[in-house]
Amino acid sequence: MTTRVARRLAPAALIPAALVLLAAVPVAAGRAAPADVTAAGPAQRAVLAAQVEAARAADPGFTPSAERGRTLFTGSPGGGKPDSPSCTSCHGDDPRQGGHSRAGKPIAPLAPSVVPARLTDAADVAKWLRRNCAEVLGRDCTAAEKADLVAFLISQ
Ligand code: HEC
Repeated sequence: MTTRVARRLAPAALIPAALVLLAAVPVAAGRAAPADVTAAGPAQRAVLAAQVEAARAADPGFTPSAERGRTLFTGSPGGGKPDSPSCTSCHGDDPRQGGHSRAGKPIAPLAPSVVPARLTDAADVAKWLRRNCAEVLGRDCTAAEKADLVAFLISQ
């Protein structure tokens, strides 16, 4: 009798424990140290997922690359304004450190490990990428380039 009751109660009693465990997983992942693969939380991952989906509309096999993103971010691809040849012209060489606008106004670091609110708002990211790709490349970045840039920045 006792065992039958216990057997019936046991699964229900386990559910809260299982939920606590499940809830703890994303929180732990979001607190990854800067040296880890990614410092990104759920909001940054959602921004990346949307960019990847956009890129896959043109190329179904597309996989984002933080390395390609780094190359684009630190390079001087040409085609833009002479006084802002690179993303680093304003944001500095290291996304974990800040930069300066052309007018000398400080720009906070883009790295989520330093500024957790960075790249959490898809509309903001879209607006600034449109503006800044025009500055640096003289054109809109492709969906693939944007996904690579976001993959790089949220890994910082
Ligand atoms: C002419 C200066 C300038 C250049 C060049 C520039 N940026 Fe920016 N960027 C800014 C400013 C100013 C902001 C808005 C202020 C802020 O967010 O601190 C900004 C904001 C952003 C944001 C929004 C971050 C967020 O919190 O969501 C992203 C992403 C970004 N830039 C990426 C880039 C990339 C990638 C490049 C190169 C293609 C680039 N920027 C080149 C000045 C620049």
